[in-house]
Amino acid sequence: MINVFGSLVGEAEIAAVTKTMESQWMGFGKKVEEFEELFKKDRGVENFLLVDSGSNALFMALHLLNLPKGSEVIVPSLTWVSCAQAVLLVGCKPVFADCDVNSHNVTAETVKAQITPNTSAIMVVHFAGLPVDMDPIMELGLPVIEDAAHAVDSYYKGKLCGSIGDVGIYSFDAVKNITTIEGGGIHMKSREMYDRAKRLRYCGIGKSGFDSALSNASGVQRWWEYNISEAFIKMLPTNVGAAVGVEQLKRIKELQGHRKKVWDFYQKELASEPWITLPKEPNADETHSYFTYVITVDEKRDELAKFLLENGVYTTLRYHPLHMNQLYGQLDQNLENTQYLNERALSIPLHPNLPMEDAQTVVDKIKAFKKQA
Ligand SMILES: Cc1ncc(COP(=O)(O)O)c(C=O)c1O
Repeated sequence: MINVFGSLVGEAEIAAVTKTMESQWMGFGKKVEEFEELFKKDRGVENFLLVDSGSNALFMALHLLNLPKGSEVIVPSLTWVSCAQAVLLVGCKPVFADCDVNSHNVTAETVKAQITPNTSAIMVVHFAGLPVDMDPIMELGLPVIEDAAHAVDSYYKGKLCGSIGDVGIYSFDAVKNITTIEGGGIHMKSREMYDRAKRLRYCGIGKSGFDSALSNASGVQRWWEYNISEAFIKMLPTNVGAAVGVEQLKRIKELQGHRKKVWDFYQKELASEPWITLPKEPNADETHSYFTYVITVDEKRDELAKFLLENGVYTTLRYHPLHMNQLYGQLDQNLENTQYLNERALSIPLHPNLPMEDAQTVVDKIKAFKKQA
């Protein structure tokens, strides 16, 4: 089966895991710090922390904003469930915004349509890694959370996606652009938020007793005692995951290069199919992360997906719209573009471990479907 998502780890990652395991310090430690420092230097950002998942990074992000309980946070409907769950978990209400039908991103207009006097923040998602047009969103004057789970290699007017709003998150799960096996990142605009997040990540304590003892230059007695700043859960990443992440970051150009090669191949090969709308390319002052390649078909999307599956090609839809989930109580909302894509969009295989022959097979099978349909 040709898979829709995938990762590429090789000898460097395996050696790094072995070395970390052999060090007998597998959990949270120095490798995490090494990953964070490399990420900041390589991506050109500050105030970045690694945590144990993108979903938890979202929860942390919402928590850091101290939004009034019961207030509304605008969230794209076309995104992963963690975006809305994080809002609910801090006692706020997710209110869903439509997307642009070509970029699949929210716009200042679709967000504005949902703003009420009770709106306390806006969440945007750089869908598939194509940057959201951030300037008009920032001009709305509300706190902004950027979900850059797909956008670790995306830049908007020279700035890394995820570092433009008040707080931004990344996902490093097993099939994201770079992986720490499971993991997530969080970027904060202010140093105060960063310091707070660092404490929160470890149950609100911040430093372990061991770290306190090591850094005990001032001779503090009883390093095993701690001040708990506030109640929070544990979100610590591991040295083993970070060791994989360091190697992935070192080869991010190669990983992204292959994603772009597959993307360009599909753009070229599928251009001749008038029944397929191809995904939008980035503007000249933007870069894309090519996380997923989404085609939009005129009709018979489900039949196409079934035909591809029967012919060894696994595809999927990113995402089933959140407003169509009963939990959020907005089933009667009409989000035209999101609902349109829910019937016509399909993610086809794209990842750094996809042989070009498999990409050719995907194209051949898509064309074969049209011939027999
Ligand atoms: C848009 C988006 N946000 C957040 C997440 C959550 O990331 P994680 O899987 O690391 O928890 C995902 C994961 O797929 C995602 O696609």
